[in-house]
Amino acid sequence: MPEKKGAVPAGDVTQRVGVEVIRARGVDVEKLIKMLIANAAAEFASTYYYYTILRMHLAGYEDYKEICEDARLEDRAHWELIVPRIYELGGELPNDLPAFHNQAGCVAAKLPDPPTVVNILTVLLESERCAIRSWIAICDMTCGKDPRTYDMASRILNEEIEHEAWFIELLAHERDGKTIPSGHFRRGTPGEAPYSKNAHFYNP
Ligand SMILES: [Fe+2]
Ligand SMILES: [Fe+2]
Repeated sequence: MPEKKGAVPAGDVTQRVGVEVIRARGVDVEKLIKMLIANAAAEFASTYYYYTILRMHLAGYEDYKEICEDARLEDRAHWELIVPRIYELGGELPNDLPAFHNQAGCVAAKLPDPPTVVNILTVLLESERCAIRSWIAICDMTCGKDPRTYDMASRILNEEIEHEAWFIELLAHERDGKTIPSGHFRRGTPGEAPYSKNAHFYNP
């Protein structure tokens, strides 16, 4: 599908060839921006607020806290990976934090009552499952049409799938006394985010 040369006039800064080429391949760009903002809001709320609180209430379970910290910091990497893409597509973050929070694609992961370790692990597990569903929806929408968004979403998805496996392992052990290995190898450093952090490019 060759693009019409010159569809965006030379020097025009109001249009983006990077957007027009994916629109021409069938991406509903406005819908994609909305979905990315919803996912960004979920990652933002998760890493900076809910996971922080949930992790702090795992007192005495230092091994669980370590796994939770990897998941928390990797959500931060997801946030930082995806926000620039929203702007590249011509979108922007809502200029109002409560409004931004309210359009999150996943329900707020509140501290459960009572905040037992089993209840906290259950919240964490379901939060990862919501993230998997949200990111695979972006993959479905962009596969074969928008390689850049697809690449980012699929890298995030890789880690969300790992996070689900981690929390299945911990919850099965803690609640049911069952062993369901996640196949987890320790990250090199906390929050390494091997797929989603552009450590070799520009993220310190
Ligand atoms: Fe995430
Ligand atoms: Fe996650």
